[in-house]
Amino acid sequence: MNQEFELKSVIRSVPDFPKPGIMFRDITPLLANHEAFRETIRRFTEHFKDSKITKIMAAEARGFIFAAPLALELNASFIPVRKPNKLPFDTQAFHYELEYGTDTLEMHIDAVEEGDRVLLIDDLLATGGTIQACAKLAEQAGAVVAGCGFLIELDFLNGRRHLEGYDICSLINYG
Ligand code: PRP
Ligand code: ADE
Repeated sequence: MNQEFELKSVIRSVPDFPKPGIMFRDITPLLANHEAFRETIRRFTEHFKDSKITKIMAAEARGFIFAAPLALELNASFIPVRKPNKLPFDTQAFHYELEYGTDTLEMHIDAVEEGDRVLLIDDLLATGGTIQACAKLAEQAGAVVAGCGFLIELDFLNGRRHLEGYDICSLINYG
């Protein structure tokens, strides 16, 4: 597997999941293909290897899958960002707007600190709400967001508008 490999060829598109009108981009065929999974981590590593990343933050659940192996490649800490009331120690929360309603993500208060250069990783960028919440958690703790990496970006939802000024690496795009 190499630079030429089409990662998109191992993404399965499932219409009308989880509700009518949504084309769900299913990453499980990529995860089941260890060469494609390894190539994904290799491409993120190549992009961010000189970014002096100290910590990688990712929101549960799908973000964890890519953030953990990448943290090992970049010699960085892995910081889990979780849905409310999952983390056992003191937490810092960020509340954010969804298309309808609000949501909350939390991280441990001692997870990120001033001086950290944080990389935010997720499987997919849609509206950008999730990754923006992670960025706010990092910045509220005094860290610098040194980059954002996504396996998939849904261009038509323009999640990027929340990430101006950040170094963004998306490996697959759907227009
Ligand atoms: C999905 C996906 C991203 C987020 C992207 O997670 O894994 O984290 O949505 O959407 P956004 O850019 O509009 O915020 P989901 O909340 O479905 O949770 P999961 O990873 O537990 O499936
Ligand atoms: N998360 C938000 N939108 C999604 C989509 N279209 N496919 C997979 N995960 C998603």
